[in-house]
Amino acid sequence: MHIGVPLETQLGETRVAATPETIKKLIAQGHTVTVQNGAGIAASVTDSAYEAAGALIGSAADAFGAELILKVSAPGDAELPLIKSGTVVVGMLNPFNNDMIAKLAERGIAAFALEAAPRTSRAQSLDVLSSQANIAGYKAVLLAAHHYPRFMPMLMTAAGTVKAARVLILGAGVAGLQAIATAKRLGAVIEASDVRPAVKEQIESLGAKFVDVPYETDEEREAAVGVGGYARPMPASWMQRQAVAVHERARQADIVITTALIPGRKAPVLLSAETVAQMKPGSVVIDLAAAQGGNCPLTVADQVVVEHGVTIVGHTNLPAMVAADASALYARNLLDFMKLLFNQEGQFQINLEDDIVAACLMCRDGQVIRKNG
Ligand code: NAI
Repeated sequence: MHIGVPLETQLGETRVAATPETIKKLIAQGHTVTVQNGAGIAASVTDSAYEAAGALIGSAADAFGAELILKVSAPGDAELPLIKSGTVVVGMLNPFNNDMIAKLAERGIAAFALEAAPRTSRAQSLDVLSSQANIAGYKAVLLAAHHYPRFMPMLMTAAGTVKAARVLILGAGVAGLQAIATAKRLGAVIEASDVRPAVKEQIESLGAKFVDVPYETDEEREAAVGVGGYARPMPASWMQRQAVAVHERARQADIVITTALIPGRKAPVLLSAETVAQMKPGSVVIDLAAAQGGNCPLTVADQVVVEHGVTIVGHTNLPAMVAADASALYARNLLDFMKLLFNQEGQFQINLEDDIVAACLMCRDGQVIRKNG
């Protein structure tokens, strides 16, 4: 099959959907690959590195003119006309963006959004949410260290002792757990909270303290378990008690990293403006939910603002700040997903018996298959 790898054009996007490593493997499987010139530059991959791996270098029209297109984010309005009807597009297309899925369907594209893959063991190697959230959690801590006007570790020097930073992490999924591990390596003292009871042990095993907000009703207990591994919105009663606990912990903290998301919904507010107003001057908030409305109402998407002496960082694409490794991991996720799209004879097929393929398929033959919202 002819595979295209276009340059990503979304503002701030530095990642690329294929690397020389994955392209070599695709070519070994019998595919031809056209990479748009400059597609890998922002991720430190030169055109000559792609050529050495066996790819052809071409224009945007060449890459989008392929039979199967590997993307990071969904094609933009200017790119859609370059894609022929019947083309297969695979990427992080955002399964909750109904308008965009409708546009892809209108053009007769078969689109696969990898964020929709189930959180099962078999899907782990192609789990783009995990590979990218892991990077976001790591980078969040480095950004916090950058904006924090003090040291992270406890230091005993001839000029006196410096206290370790206190880090509070709200939401201990993939990003939050990596943030705990990274902050720990830097010597911080860490507390973390989540709605899902399963994470308590994971938080503690990484050396952080679990901020417990006990459940008081069956409704709270059931909501906390979530669905498919994901959190569900918690009842107001629990959210109120959590807000009290967060308020107390945030006032003591030097750095707060928020990562709480609920798929397809606005992110829950966990750190109120009143709480920020009572945080120590020089404290830092990194809001990883900025793209979904933020876990803090003072967060401004894609900006760094200072409110009440607290620096609030609202970058919406942290994986793009670690472009080379984010691309390398993402490209491997795509390669693993591609294996599901070809049968043993090497022919392309959409096998709806496969739960991963079926979950990721958004549209084909002009029909929207999955509609959210
Ligand atoms: P996510 O990015 O959707 O959300 C981040 C975290 O925020 C979650 O831990 C969630 O419980 C938490 N959260 C939501 N509302 C909150 C609130 N009000 N207060 C505090 N925390 C709140 O989650 P992510 O990282 O994508 O993980 C989702 C699930 O998938 C987890 O159970 C994870 O263990 C599981 N998983 C399974 C995999 C597999 O088996 N293949 C791979 C990766 C993750």
